[in-house]
Amino acid sequence: MKKAIYPGTFDPITNGHLDILERAIKVFDFIDIAVVKNVNKDPLFNAEERVEIIRECTKDILNVKVEKFDGLVVDFAQKVGASVIIRGLRALSDFEYEFQMALMNRHLDNDVDTVFFMPSEENTYLSSSMIREIVKFDGDISCFVPEYVKNKLIRKIRSNK
Ligand code: COA
Repeated sequence: MKKAIYPGTFDPITNGHLDILERAIKVFDFIDIAVVKNVNKDPLFNAEERVEIIRECTKDILNVKVEKFDGLVVDFAQKVGASVIIRGLRALSDFEYEFQMALMNRHLDNDVDTVFFMPSEENTYLSSSMIREIVKFDGDISCFVPEYVKNKLIRKIRSNK
């Protein structure tokens, strides 16, 4: 069984992340999505909220599990018995950061490799922070996230105002 993990902040999950997931599930038999901590980010949604949102958005995709993990991505991979980390590459600007992270993860655990998927063109300029910013200024994000995420985001941002 080819098992992979898809780690990220997912604050919130977007059509771009779902695009990567749908491509990856054609290659792997099972994918564990991990909401993990990026020490440089202070997320809008807490980890439990992000897990719940991802679960709702992936409920129709078979062979996917979602959980949060406090620790190193390679430790999560070991915990669930996966040897592949999935990441998305949107543009050249992602490359350096992703390259560094992939090599560091391999240094931490030589049995773990990172596999990159490219999203479709319409999702290459998407990012969760842009989505959050558009909602803050009452813009329309309907074509970038599922309806469920859009409603959660609008409610969250209004309640924080
Ligand atoms: N489509 C659209 N947007 C995408 C995307 C895609 N396919 N893939 C990534 N993005 C965007 C996200 O929306 C996000 O945007 P933002 O920064 O504006 O919010 C950004 O790209 C990256 O976010 P995401 O993939 O959700 O998570 P991340 O890059 O913050 O994840 C971790 C980094 C969490 C995986 C990393 O910090 C980590 O591994 N942490 C655990 C600790 C650890 O193991 N550290 C050692 C690492 S070497």
